[in-house]
Amino acid sequence: MSKPRILIARAVFPEVIERLSHHFEVESNQADTVWSKVELMEKLRDKAGAFTTGSDRIDGEVLAACPQLKICANMAVGYNNFDLDAMTARGVLGTNTPDVLTETTADFGFALLMATARRITESEHYLRAGQWTKWSFDMFAGSDIHGATLGILGMGRIGQGIAKRGSHGFGMNVIYHNRSRLDAATEAECKARYVSKEELLKTADHLVLVLPYSAASHHAIGAAELAQMKRTATLVNIARGGIVDDAALAQALRDKRIAAAGLDVFEGEPAVHPDLLTVPNVVLTPHIASSSVPTRLAMANLAAENLIEFFTQNKALTPLNPQVLKG
Ligand code: GLV
Repeated sequence: MSKPRILIARAVFPEVIERLSHHFEVESNQADTVWSKVELMEKLRDKAGAFTTGSDRIDGEVLAACPQLKICANMAVGYNNFDLDAMTARGVLGTNTPDVLTETTADFGFALLMATARRITESEHYLRAGQWTKWSFDMFAGSDIHGATLGILGMGRIGQGIAKRGSHGFGMNVIYHNRSRLDAATEAECKARYVSKEELLKTADHLVLVLPYSAASHHAIGAAELAQMKRTATLVNIARGGIVDDAALAQALRDKRIAAAGLDVFEGEPAVHPDLLTVPNVVLTPHIASSSVPTRLAMANLAAENLIEFFTQNKALTPLNPQVLKG
């Protein structure tokens, strides 16, 4: 019997391709070319499965052009690149890679928070530029992490990981806002207190965004929200571009409306709003929060396992729309 054909849309660990090759006829993209939508549709037209990343948009148009497609396994926990309703309507399974990246991503959120509050990259640029000629009493004086109030918007697994690092590791006072309140045991474990979004904005010394992107969370932080924050506050976004209005943020940073920001994700990335590139009080990283070698390997393997389970057993480890498996 011939093996099902799959497409691996972007470059990935060779051992994962090797593993998939035992089960599938694989077309890979080790040149790591970022295909246009038309190119992606051409590549996917004769495939039964796809190994996708957050950069590969799977929508109604792609699905209509690729009637043989049965599953898209995303190597990411976020899946806003999928039109999940359209996939479900066509009986196409979507899967993501939760859990395996939680701790690594929470580590990074904390690293970005510390780099932002303590002005690490800004001071490094100054040093590298040869500007460090003497000690000064307020040189790159930032804000403290320990003992400060840490606000978290979006309290899923990664938010909880950040809360625990803050409360247990740094003695922070942790507050959070989420669509739904956590149960009392989880709140106690995180040492986190539920507050309204308004209280979160007004009282956080550091605000970390970890909520999924959707139409409802688009520009959840815009000019009006930034205006409610403390002038000394820092803002960290490791969630998705589009949750923050980047133009409004650049303006707020320029006006010192808030002290600083740390951004791993951007509206329209990999393009970055040009104003963010010119303000000094922002730490910018290229969407790498889950990028440790073991975690990226675990994510790739989980996406691969989803493909293998689906084609061998009609199930998946981390399905997003499991209802299509019943049909
Ligand atoms: C990364 O942004 C992910 O969703 O895994």
